[in-house]
Amino acid sequence: MYETTPPDDRRPLRIGMLGYAGMGKAHSNAYRTIPYIFWPGAFRPELTAITGRTEAKVREAAIRYGFQRYTTDWRTVVEDDEIDVFDNAGPDAMHVEPTLAAIDAGKHVACEKPLALSAADCERLYVAAERRGVKHLACFNYRFLPAVRLARELIDAGDLGEIREARFRYSQERGGDPEVSPWTAGTLNAIGCHVIDQARFLVGEIARVSAVITSPVSDRRAERGIETGVRMDTVAMAVEFDSGAPGLIDASSIATGRKNQLAWEINGSRGSVAWDLEDLNVLRVMRRGDRRLDGFAEVIVCEPWHPLAGVWWDTAHLLGWEHGHINMLAHFLDAVATGSPVAPYGATFHDGLRAAQVSEAAVESARTGRRIEVAAPAAVPAAVPVTQALSA
Ligand SMILES: NC(=O)c1ccc[n+]([C@@H]2O[C@H](COP(=O)([O-])OP(=O)(O)OC[C@H]3O[C@@H](n4cnc5c(N)ncnc54)[C@H](O)[C@@H]3O)[C@@H](O)[C@H]2O)c1
Repeated sequence: MYETTPPDDRRPLRIGMLGYAGMGKAHSNAYRTIPYIFWPGAFRPELTAITGRTEAKVREAAIRYGFQRYTTDWRTVVEDDEIDVFDNAGPDAMHVEPTLAAIDAGKHVACEKPLALSAADCERLYVAAERRGVKHLACFNYRFLPAVRLARELIDAGDLGEIREARFRYSQERGGDPEVSPWTAGTLNAIGCHVIDQARFLVGEIARVSAVITSPVSDRRAERGIETGVRMDTVAMAVEFDSGAPGLIDASSIATGRKNQLAWEINGSRGSVAWDLEDLNVLRVMRRGDRRLDGFAEVIVCEPWHPLAGVWWDTAHLLGWEHGHINMLAHFLDAVATGSPVAPYGATFHDGLRAAQVSEAAVESARTGRRIEVAAPAAVPAAVPVTQALSA
């Protein structure tokens, strides 16, 4: 028996993370899993430093997740010369300032959704990251589930023909009790940005939006003196994609009985695809051919020949929600290590900005009762390559 572990001489990518709650846990799990699943790989993430608000809890998180250092001062992490990648898994209101500081310090940056609470702030982040020449990732993790990627590949290959219409929904019930205030972010920031991103990822840019927004439960809470934050429980949008195809997008945090239903159906001239996060491994596919067999087939997208599934298990041993985060962060770190692009499969800060622009068009439409043009995308500024060399 050999007594020493041979050294892992893959390039280390040192991670500094803000936040140890749900997403801190999901991202830490990803960084710990990547080195042995994405084998041999060009890099290995190293959990270098974590920051959070409460010392005892951030210390516990450092021990539990395996970070070498911890602090309650996030500036110490973004300014740490040893950190290559800053991962912002903190609350929505903490996305802008720490991420901008990390960009300024030359770190590559991953940031949870929503990228920021306004399109203007998203644009600041996007422009800063492009100017500094760092890699940037907006954490729209659902792009990295195999069934979603397969749908995108079928659409890109023209297998569904011309996309003629599409329906997207994200329904949860967790905001439905007027006695409690489980979240204050408002439905667009909490889950609407995910479903908008799915629509853009699969069908394309959204040109115009007509929306109705309601807040029956938040209003009841406010009447009872319970904190409500952004009063927005349901958002229903009729949209027109750049292609001219119509779409429906809705998001609800008060959909009684719905736990986590991110679902869509996309109909083309030669076929259709449909998917539901509550049955995330299955893509329902219909392709025109033999008329006797017309109808949807259920494909379990977990075979070695499926996108994003090959590194995992064999013969349809199923994947879960966390695999979206693991696949996403592996893709991002590979881009950092090799210089390959994050887009088009990964969401960049540009995608975070575009989701915010669609959200703001929806809010404006609901306020005015008019159909609203989505703001034009920001011009891409000239990149200034980051000078800080990655740790060799
Ligand atoms: N992509 C997804 O699937 C998904 C799912 C849920 C939440 N989110 C997003 O992830 C982000 C994190 O959400 P969450 O539910 O994990 O946690 P949260 O929003 O409850 O954030 C809590 C964490 O942020 C830290 N924090 C807060 N203020 C701080 C400060 N001033 N300085 C340092 N640290 C501070 C806390 O210590 C804690 O670790 C949010 O933006 C949320 O919208 C994404």
